[in-house]
Amino acid sequence: MSTFTEKHKKLERNVTLLAAAALVTVVIGGIVEIAPLFYLEETVEEVEGVRPYTPLELAGRNIYIREGCYNCHSQMVRPFRDEVDRYGHYSLSAESMYDHPFQWGSKRTGPDLARVGGRYSDEWHVQHLIDPRSVVPESIMPSYSFLAERRLDMEDPGAHLTALRRVGVPYTDEQIEQAAEHLALQADPDGFAPDLQEFYPKSQVRDFDGDPRRLTEMDALVAYLQMLGTLVDFEAAAPMEELSE
Ligand code: HEC
Repeated sequence: MSTFTEKHKKLERNVTLLAAAALVTVVIGGIVEIAPLFYLEETVEEVEGVRPYTPLELAGRNIYIREGCYNCHSQMVRPFRDEVDRYGHYSLSAESMYDHPFQWGSKRTGPDLARVGGRYSDEWHVQHLIDPRSVVPESIMPSYSFLAERRLDMEDPGAHLTALRRVGVPYTDEQIEQAAEHLALQADPDGFAPDLQEFYPKSQVRDFDGDPRRLTEMDALVAYLQMLGTLVDFEAAAPMEELSE
């Protein structure tokens, strides 16, 4: 018998040796499978326009998650003809690169919301959230009227930004220091906040809930909805895409 099978016999008969050899094999296989994932970040192509959320949008996003809106709404337009015709350009992975957690999904009791920003007026959103059936008679969406009554209470917005920075969202020190200020600034009824534009391009500044005296959860949620899908300029991106085809 060849020396190789002789040696293998030894391995088979010695449990400790066999276990050690099996471990080495599994470790090599594991590394080959897992190591590439550490570099996955590089496979998400950055797209111009995508930026971290403003503190007010982030507060709105937290309310969106708290209220379970994702149980009925996805935020992912799939690259199918019918979806693109209905909702607009299909979603790019870069558009949700700062989402923790992301809001993809296929559960659509209501429409996809990835591109709902700018599609309706603030008044429409407020009315729809207070009483969905007053604007869409056949709607089965629940009422969220309490959001208009509740003052926005985002305890220490800076800490929230810091936490997101730990998982890779590139908030700067200045953005973190001024988070509380920026939160209030974005709901300025006069729409005047040049500073905010500098920190967060394309951020929309106004009173969102129709009640300029108070900063409510409705303000935050509507600010978030009105921003969805508005950051990337797909008109400018289209010719480049065609070129690469
Ligand atoms: C029980 C399921 C359900 C839940 C939960 C729900 N929705 Fe809806 N939503 C719907 C349905 C159905 C529609 C379509 C009819 C309508 O416009 O009301 C809709 C429509 C919408 C629209 C209009 C979209 C469009 O393109 O016309 C928005 C915006 C919206 N929902 C936001 C929200 C937000 C924000 C929440 C959480 C606070 C939420 N929804 C929770 C079912 C739901």
